[in-house]
Amino acid sequence: MAGLLLLCLVYWWLDNLAHEIFGTAMFMILIRHIYQNRSWFRNLARGSYGVRRTVIVAFHVALAVNMIVLLVTSLAISQSLFAKLPLPDSATLSELHWFSAYWVIRAVGCHLGLHWPRIRAIINAAFNLPPATVLQTRLLLLLAAILFVIGFASLSTLDIATKLSFRLSPNFWDFSTSVTPFFVRWVGVMALPAIATHCVVNIAGRRRASSRNSRA
Ligand code: HEM
Ligand code: HEM
Repeated sequence: MAGLLLLCLVYWWLDNLAHEIFGTAMFMILIRHIYQNRSWFRNLARGSYGVRRTVIVAFHVALAVNMIVLLVTSLAISQSLFAKLPLPDSATLSELHWFSAYWVIRAVGCHLGLHWPRIRAIINAAFNLPPATVLQTRLLLLLAAILFVIGFASLSTLDIATKLSFRLSPNFWDFSTSVTPFFVRWVGVMALPAIATHCVVNIAGRRRASSRNSRA
């Protein structure tokens, strides 16, 4: 899904039909993803809400709203796959579409950072790797540091501040010159909130554990 999101950003390289196919594929997988995690939604009304749970649930609500705005505007402004749907189309809806798209990329970054231990376990199981060795942890730290530097440097290259602030960015990537650096930079930009969220979750977890130990 994260890969398809990034593929959606090459609108001016592969054009509208490819863009709508990538976006539709992402939404189809998202439906399956939400269905797979349905027990999480069912459990929302159960148990008590401390600070940690409130923040995580509030974040997921924001992510869901962000995705719904992206989905509704996608259907409304479609020029290929859903063009025949009787939905109103306007310049404002287009603006809302790309504005929500850039925020979705940030939010998905946070979401991935939040679920990093699960992602790591899934990758290890898929490639039959031993569970978290010291070498693997060090290599991942190095990768995170490289992605952080690339993401930070790309904030201005890709004009992220303007794109996230509902203003029209004059920044268009010249795909006739290069394609791979475009993806590398966007992966870095998505990695920034992922790394930040992962660090915050780790620090909060350690504080909770040490306050539990000092009480015991
Ligand atoms: C491109 C978008 C998304 C990506 C790449 C993504 C990725 C992931 C990953 C890797 C996990 C952890 C592994 C797993 O449990 O399956 C996860 C869990 C989850 N995701 Fe997403 N997700 C996306 C969008 C969403 C959206 C829009 C929602 C709606 C709120 C959502 C809700 C959840 C929930 C509820 C969980 C389980 C949380 C838990 O068990 O603590 N995801 N997601
Ligand atoms: C069903 C799925 C989707 C459809 C039908 C769709 C449709 C469209 C259309 C018709 C445009 C052109 C708007 C215009 O002329 O102003 C557009 C632009 C755009 N879409 Fe989507 N979209 C979909 C999914 C997505 C997703 C998942 C993303 C997430 C990254 C996304 C990001 C963008 C962006 C950033 C632009 C602006 C391109 C630019 O001007 O640089 N779209 N989309």
